[in-house]
Amino acid sequence: MKQIMMLLAALLLTCSASDGDAKAENTQALANMGKTLIVYYSYTGNCEAIVNSLASQITADQLEIQPAEKGLRYEANNYTLGAQLLNAIKANPNDASSYPTIDPVSVTLDNYQNVIIVTPLWWSQMAAIMQTYLFNNSAQMAGKHLALIVSSHSSGISGVVSDAQRLLPNVTWAGEALWINASNHSNRALLITNWLTTQNFQTSNDMPKQLHITIGGVTKTAMLVSNSSTEALVAQLQQGDITYEAHDYGNFEKVGDLGYSFPQNNEQITTVPGDIILYQGSNLCIYYDTNSWNFTRIGWLNGMTQADIKQWVNAGGGNVSVTLSLNGRTTACRQVRVDETKSQAYTPAGTVATAGTKGIVIQNGKKIIIR
Ligand SMILES: Cc1cc2nc3c(=O)[nH]c(=O)nc-3n(C[C@H](O)[C@H](O)[C@H](O)COP(=O)(O)O)c2cc1C
Repeated sequence: MKQIMMLLAALLLTCSASDGDAKAENTQALANMGKTLIVYYSYTGNCEAIVNSLASQITADQLEIQPAEKGLRYEANNYTLGAQLLNAIKANPNDASSYPTIDPVSVTLDNYQNVIIVTPLWWSQMAAIMQTYLFNNSAQMAGKHLALIVSSHSSGISGVVSDAQRLLPNVTWAGEALWINASNHSNRALLITNWLTTQNFQTSNDMPKQLHITIGGVTKTAMLVSNSSTEALVAQLQQGDITYEAHDYGNFEKVGDLGYSFPQNNEQITTVPGDIILYQGSNLCIYYDTNSWNFTRIGWLNGMTQADIKQWVNAGGGNVSVTLSLNGRTTACRQVRVDETKSQAYTPAGTVATAGTKGIVIQNGKKIIIR
């Protein structure tokens, strides 16, 4: 119903403004847009027609998902086979072997900030072939802005939206999905024009370039490199700060488990003091000396000497609480990650609480007020 209201609103909107105005607005908005990929699967050609309309309105690359079993693309509707494929996924959605095989895909998602998925609805769910692609690429999609267009004969699309959310837990949705069905398919160009104005796509300038790191109440700034790992980290930080406990390792780093798993972009790196590195997708290392390993660069600390860094992280001095934030004003109360097996309490600034500490402290993941 919400979708129908949106479409009605979009149509009313277009009645009051000329087509030319709406298109001009889209052109203006999309000129600033980051690089965009349209991913689609089309069984009987309707989604392909939608993609053609979409591609005439925005600048985007296209990727058609092809099932390894070619009958799923070129033959007439096969509802029985469709139901079998969906039932296999439903029975075991976390097992890759439950998903129908698709042809290998050569497109690297790293190159795109926005992805628009165009998929048919099957039995009120997302078509199984598109589910395979999203399942296989869930980690690579993390941090991107996603939009969804669903084509059905007449069924509502809430089941497809749920499938998309299950398969892509770490993305930012650009707005509500667009539903195109048999009764409005011929009007798709106009529906897409208006829907595009409702989508909050990522612009190339959106990506924050700095990460603020607070240890012992002192906040330092790191410059972020641009890769899918930092995009995913930034997307997570947009939901709230991350606080974790870090320990010394190898006399060269302060490292701790972030409590989240991010995409890896591993390369052989010889660190220098100040490097910020992601290890195995979930451990963040602040380097105060040299090490050589295959891991992911996140960024580097701005303008700090080795002595400054060692003092700040309390090198060799045991565990510290570290808070990562995008704006430097920590909100550690919202998303604190401390070792729950220990009863150590921390202040919102990330320092260890002592007997005299008053106000809010975080202990075993819970916020406590000490008066
Ligand atoms: C296996 C299968 C199941 C379908 N189930 C539904 C359904 O439950 N409700 C509906 O309205 N349309 C259903 N459809 C119709 C498609 O959603 C619709 O024709 C869509 O536009 C197809 O897009 P395509 O031509 O790009 O493959 C189904 C189609 C197939 C092949």
